[in-house]
Amino acid sequence: MTAGSTIWRATVLTLFPEMFPGPLGVSLAGKALASGVWALEARDIRASATDRHRSVDDTPAGGGPGMVLRADVLAAAIDAADGGHGRPRLLMSPRGRPLTQSFVRELAAGPGALIVCGRFEGVDQRVIDARGLEEVSIGDYVLSGGEIAAMALIDACVRLLPGVMGKAESGAEESFSEALLEYPQYTRPQAFEGVPIPEILTSGDHAKVAGWRRSEAEALTRARRPDLWAKRQKAPKNTTDR
Ligand code: ADE
Repeated sequence: MTAGSTIWRATVLTLFPEMFPGPLGVSLAGKALASGVWALEARDIRASATDRHRSVDDTPAGGGPGMVLRADVLAAAIDAADGGHGRPRLLMSPRGRPLTQSFVRELAAGPGALIVCGRFEGVDQRVIDARGLEEVSIGDYVLSGGEIAAMALIDACVRLLPGVMGKAESGAEESFSEALLEYPQYTRPQAFEGVPIPEILTSGDHAKVAGWRRSEAEALTRARRPDLWAKRQKAPKNTTDR
């Protein structure tokens, strides 16, 4: 990094800081982390507990199963992390705003994020309101905690940071911007269990290859993701996104 350039910072508040960097420490994200393109700090929420049992959760007011992360403890953890230094404050939660490629692009273009990983049945609503946490979901299923969701979000952002992706990965990003699923890929051997590579791909005719790939991508999108396809048909050209 050159002097004065800003670095994309992820601060993760979690009860399991030992989960980080985990998969973010290898491959593309890991190399970028090692070379200082981005920075990661995993902070233990429990370090902000004040009672002698270091408790971070309690039973839900009004009754019900499970435990709720305490507002006072989480607020102290956020404040100890300096509130996130003007970065968006996110709370990973299945009831949050869906994480899409356009949302990822927005986050990657900013200074980073402070990310709270939920556990138990939830987080006291008062700390969500008081610290302006934006809830973010990575899909309509329930994980046992926000850590894996936070890793997915960070990974998706980091690969978009300048200098992280090679040409190959950038290509995949471009195609996603068009709201089309990826066309099928092939490589050697020429025949696999008796099945050859589609002839057109070895024809050397670049225009034909591009046309074939586009029609395959469109057929896949129509078949597998009618929701995406409908959005694409409605949107003016080159503005489709998700
Ligand atoms: N925590 C638990 N499930 C989650 C999800 N689907 N997205 C984000 N955070 C979560």
